[in-house]
Amino acid sequence: MDATAIILAAGEGTRMKSKHAKVSHAILGKPMINWVVDATIAAGCARVVVVVGSHADEVRALLDGAYADSPVPVETVEQRERLGTGHAVKVALEATGISAGPVVVLNGDLPLIQPATIERFAASVAEGGAAGSVLTMTPPNPYGYGRIQLDAEGSIVRIIEQKDCTPEQAAGLLECNAGCYAFDGAQLAAHIGQIRSENAQNEYYLPDMVEILKAAGERVGIYHCDDFRDGLGVNSRSQLAELTAIARDRVNGRLMAEGVTFIDPAQAWISPDAVIGRDTVVWPQTHLIGRTSVGEDCQLGPNTRLTNVRAGNGCVIDETVAVDAVLEDEVTCGPRAYLRPGTHMLRASKAGTHVEIKKSTIGEGSKVPHLSYIGDTTMGAGVNVGAGSITCNYDGARKFPTEIGDGAFIGSDTMMVAPVRIGTGALVGASSCITKDVPDGALALERSEQRIIEGYADVRRAKQ
Ligand code: UD1
Ligand code: CA
Repeated sequence: MDATAIILAAGEGTRMKSKHAKVSHAILGKPMINWVVDATIAAGCARVVVVVGSHADEVRALLDGAYADSPVPVETVEQRERLGTGHAVKVALEATGISAGPVVVLNGDLPLIQPATIERFAASVAEGGAAGSVLTMTPPNPYGYGRIQLDAEGSIVRIIEQKDCTPEQAAGLLECNAGCYAFDGAQLAAHIGQIRSENAQNEYYLPDMVEILKAAGERVGIYHCDDFRDGLGVNSRSQLAELTAIARDRVNGRLMAEGVTFIDPAQAWISPDAVIGRDTVVWPQTHLIGRTSVGEDCQLGPNTRLTNVRAGNGCVIDETVAVDAVLEDEVTCGPRAYLRPGTHMLRASKAGTHVEIKKSTIGEGSKVPHLSYIGDTTMGAGVNVGAGSITCNYDGARKFPTEIGDGAFIGSDTMMVAPVRIGTGALVGASSCITKDVPDGALALERSEQRIIEGYADVRRAKQ
């Protein structure tokens, strides 16, 4: 499909009562604008133009971050004055010079639109010879949407905004404008200037293109979307929550069909871009954010949040927060592990209870089971780190590395003051503060000698 998508994201989003752009609000951890852009790219649009205005820099940053390497160009156009959706499209056409070819226009607050819907709907214009088409839906509660007025033959006459409806129209016209339109670019460019702002909101309404094109003798169609949820918009926080629940059910439903078990699919929030392998069990209160992938036969949660994490097969990830981390097969984490960016857990390694790891490699089969902080560390295979051991990687100004060789045994409550190297197969006695390198195979012990005063306990009790 050689269409250009124009996405409208310049509005103030007043009803959100937010300090941020409406389209920056996330559904399953993914900003709304990215849902819409991704849907247009997946539908096969060849070029994506996003109209920004209110909080323009915030929206641009969301796009720059996500589409810097996209094969489909995603560009922005600024609408300085927000005079309505019709004006936004006019600004986009003028700035890009688009004046031919198929053009799909989508509201930026339409996150659940499906690529297949956009594709089929846009094709209906390209193939059917109409100058424009409107995606419509019949939601249970039509309040707030523009209403589709049909003639006796069932053809669209015009769209009447909620605020311009008579009470009879508001109650009787139940088919709604989903805020997604397909146009023949030449017709759109030729007539966009005819939109007027004499209406309840004094805005230039894009939906007025229906009447304008029809008055010019052109055909305009409607494409009714059978699943109304595809066409729901987000104007308020309660709609944001409502759509989050729908998105969650859709994603979890797809994953269950693919062979993932959910203890309770209403209590897991999985990014649409996440991947989960077969026979993995998702426990309640699991959140997978961003491009997270989890292999087969894993246990996820309860109470787990993974952001941009890659986990292999057979991992147990219990009450864990992990960000930008890689977990190879059979890794065990938690309960209560915190794996920060740059953590790489090799096969069958363990980050246990109340363990924090940052920018470190934990070698194959190595274990950090209890109450430890490991930062800027390269750990070999088969290492055991005793409870309460810590790498002291920061002197208040700079960070330093720690290296722990294969098979080393670190006694409990060891402080490893970096930069430091614990040799292969070395032993460190419990409660040592290690400030010098420990050679391979050596024992390091740094501990004041224990004193014994025989009978003292009885002496003290007698005094009391
Ligand atoms: C709009 C439609 C309505 C439709 C509904 C579907 C109009 C006039 N009405 O109403 O028929 O049923 O969407 O959800 O189009 N925007 C700009 N620049 C502007 C104004 C808005 O870019 O000057 C953007 C907004 O950021 C938003 C989108 O256009 O993403 C729609 O604007 P919004 O104010 O949410 O329109 P609705 O009242 O929902
Ligand atoms: Ca809206």
